Amino acid sequence: KKVVLAYSGGLDTSVILKWLQDAYQAEVVTFTADLGQGEELGPAREKAEKAGIKQIYIDDLREEFIRDYVFPMVRANAVYEGEYLLGTSIARPLISKRLVEIAHETGADAVAHGATGKGNDQVRFELAVAALDPSLKVIAPWREWDLNSRTKLIAYAEQHGISVPKDKRGEAPFSVDANLWHTSSEGKLLEDPSEEAFNEVCLRTCHPEDAPDKAEYITIGFERGDAVSVNGQALSPAGLVTKLNELGSKHGIGRLDLVENRFVGMKSRGIYETPGGTILMTAHRAIEQLTLDRGATHLKDELMPKYAKLIYEGFWFSPEREMLQAAIDHSQRYVSGEVRMKLYKGHALTVGRSSPNSLYSLAHVTFEEDEVYDQKDAEGFIRLNALRLRLIAERKQRLGEN
Ligand code: ARG
Ligand code: SIN
Repeated sequence: KKVVLAYSGGLDTSVILKWLQDAYQAEVVTFTADLGQGEELGPAREKAEKAGIKQIYIDDLREEFIRDYVFPMVRANAVYEGEYLLGTSIARPLISKRLVEIAHETGADAVAHGATGKGNDQVRFELAVAALDPSLKVIAPWREWDLNSRTKLIAYAEQHGISVPKDKRGEAPFSVDANLWHTSSEGKLLEDPSEEAFNEVCLRTCHPEDAPDKAEYITIGFERGDAVSVNGQALSPAGLVTKLNELGSKHGIGRLDLVENRFVGMKSRGIYETPGGTILMTAHRAIEQLTLDRGATHLKDELMPKYAKLIYEGFWFSPEREMLQAAIDHSQRYVSGEVRMKLYKGHALTVGRSSPNSLYSLAHVTFEEDEVYDQKDAEGFIRLNALRLRLIAERKQRLGEN
C-alpha cells in the first residue's frame, strides 16, 4: 500500500505519518505545500527524512494559489456568512489537486489528510479528490484511530519521539491554518465564544491600537477584475498579496472573531486574520462600483452567497461552481482602473477610484445644472412604479383594513 499524505510537518500530521506506517504498513509519500504560510519548510523535509520517507514533495504553490483560486474568488466578492473571507476553504482544492497528481506520479493508491471527523476540511479534501480521481482511496486517520482527543494525540507523539511544539506559554498551540491569504485559529481558549481572544491569538496583524498614528495612502491597480499593481508597481498575484499583507499587518487590518456554521452541522468559533485580503476585497468592490452596471452588480450580489457557500462546503470542483465562475468572470471585462485606499488603525477605507471604463456620468448625476437629463421624466417613472402600490392601498381601504 502506498499513500500520499498531505504533510504540514506539524504535530498532527507527524503523528499520522507514523500511524500510517504502523497501522497500514504503508509506504508513505509526503507532500508539503508552500502556500505562503510563512513557515520554514526545511523542518518538514527533515522530519519526513527522519521518519524514513523516500519520496518527499515540497512544492511552492503560492502563485498558482493566488492566481487560480484566490483571485477568481475575489472577482466574486466571496464572503461566507457575511464576514469570513474563506482563507482555509479556498486552499483545500489546490492541495487536493496536487495530492491527486502526486498519487499518479508515484503510483500510490490512496491519499491521506489530517483533518478531523468534525470539520469542514475533511469534506473539502474528499469532495475534491472524488471529483478528480474517484478511484483513489482516502484515509482520514482522525476518523479511524482511537486517539480521539488532543491529549491522547500528544501522549502518542511523546511515546514515539515526535516533537510537540509549544507556544509562548509553554502549551501546545491552537489549531492554526495559515497561507498567503489568511491565518485561522481555533480550539483551546477560543472554545468559549464569550471570551475575548484577539490578544492571545493573533499572529500576523498588530493590534489596531498599536498601529501607526499616521494614516497611509495606497493605490491598487486593477485589470479585468484582478489586482495587478500597488502604488504603480506591477506585481505578480502572490507578490501583490504579499505586499498588501505587509501593509495590512502594519495597520492592524483584517481581524475577525466569528462563530460560523460548519457544513457538518455544528457551530465553531474562530479568529481569522486576512490583512491583505481585507484591503483587496474592499478595493475590488470599489472598482466595481464604477465599472459594473447595476444589473450585473445586483446579480453578482445575489449569486455571491451561493458561490461562497460552494467554496466553504468543498464544492470547488463542481459544475455549479464552474457555471457561476464563468458568469462572474464574464462580468469582469471592464473592471479595470485604480482605487485609492486609506489604511488607518484597523481600517481599509476606499477614498477614491478611477477607470477608463467608468459608467459614472457627472453630466447626469450633478446637483448643478445639466443638459442630458429631464427631471420631468421621473414623474411618469414614479407613477408607474407606484401603480400596484396604489391598487393595493385602495383594496385595503375598500375592505376596511388598515
Ligand atoms: N473554520 C474555517 C474553515 O472551515 C477554518 C478551518 C481551519 N482548519 C484547520 N485545519 N485548522 O474554513
Ligand atoms: C478540522 O476539523 O480538522 C479543522 C476544522 C475544520 O475542518 O473545520
